[in-house]
Amino acid sequence: MKKRALTVLLVIVLTVAAVFTGCGDKSTSGEGDQAKKDLPTIGIVQIVEHPSLDTIRENITAQLEEEGFVDGKTVTIDYKNAQGDTNNLKTICQSFTANNVDLIIAIATPSAQAALGETTDIPIVFSAVTDPIAAELVDSLEKPGGNITGTSDAVSATKILDLALQITPDIKKIGAIYSTGEINSVSVIKELKEYAKTKGIEVVEATIMNSSEIQQAAQSLVGKVDAVFSPIDNTVASSMPTIVDVLNKAKLPYYVAADSMVADGGLATDGVNYEALGKATGTMAADVLKGADTATMPVQIMSDTQVYINKKTAKEIGIKIPTNIVKKATDLSEKQK
Ligand code: TRP
Repeated sequence: MKKRALTVLLVIVLTVAAVFTGCGDKSTSGEGDQAKKDLPTIGIVQIVEHPSLDTIRENITAQLEEEGFVDGKTVTIDYKNAQGDTNNLKTICQSFTANNVDLIIAIATPSAQAALGETTDIPIVFSAVTDPIAAELVDSLEKPGGNITGTSDAVSATKILDLALQITPDIKKIGAIYSTGEINSVSVIKELKEYAKTKGIEVVEATIMNSSEIQQAAQSLVGKVDAVFSPIDNTVASSMPTIVDVLNKAKLPYYVAADSMVADGGLATDGVNYEALGKATGTMAADVLKGADTATMPVQIMSDTQVYINKKTAKEIGIKIPTNIVKKATDLSEKQK
């Protein structure tokens, strides 16, 4: 891995030198193309398109640019989206290893698991993995130990349930819509159940395997619970309008785990800033390209959280959010499409 990093560094130095010595005139000489071919390559893999993951990716590439890694100039970025399908994830990661990319950036847990499944040699920097240990990506957060490290958006179900109880204190039963196949969700639900128990609240599960089951899952909770919760679940986040439609009609408060899910109609969350998380991932990726060793680079946990609310949803379901919360919260209803 060290050798690979050195090669990357050498290529960058040579490319920059070539640009400065005037070889950059691509219109008249073929040398520009040659240099392009030799640029270090980053493969970016994303499980699905949803606003939060898109924000993360945009901030990763912006930060890479800040660090001198500009797509098409000093680096080649090959971005691929799996459209929510884990089979696609495998194919994408196989193509990255076949092309021997210099670095894989994996956005969200399923992408990181797929990438590590294909290579224990090419360095991988993951982004927004809720629980990197439960996902079996690293041995420890301080010393990942292998070819993979990255950033984590470890959310707190405890904090979110506390917020829920301040907004709607009469919760006796809370629904939980999440994917059983996403370990990032499963680990947050585990925490929710433990904390709910201490508050005498029953958790009613509505689990899904894929997005086609979402409408039914939401519908199954109507009439049975006083509020609904979803963790940072990629399948849920990519189908928010369907859930919000059912729950708003039933006047059920929907507590979520990410700002984008509030912007997509969820009532409230206490969550991390994904722009900052994307930037932090970009810096780590740049460090690895410059030769840092993933094995000894600690996982960065974005522990600063903020309260986000959606006033439009609150109005629609007839809920008054207490003034002390409104004061400290960011209202995302303006961002709602
Ligand atoms: N934390 C998620 C994971 O580990 C990825 C993620 C980031 C996400 N932001 C989100 C999921 C917003 C849902 C909503 O896979």
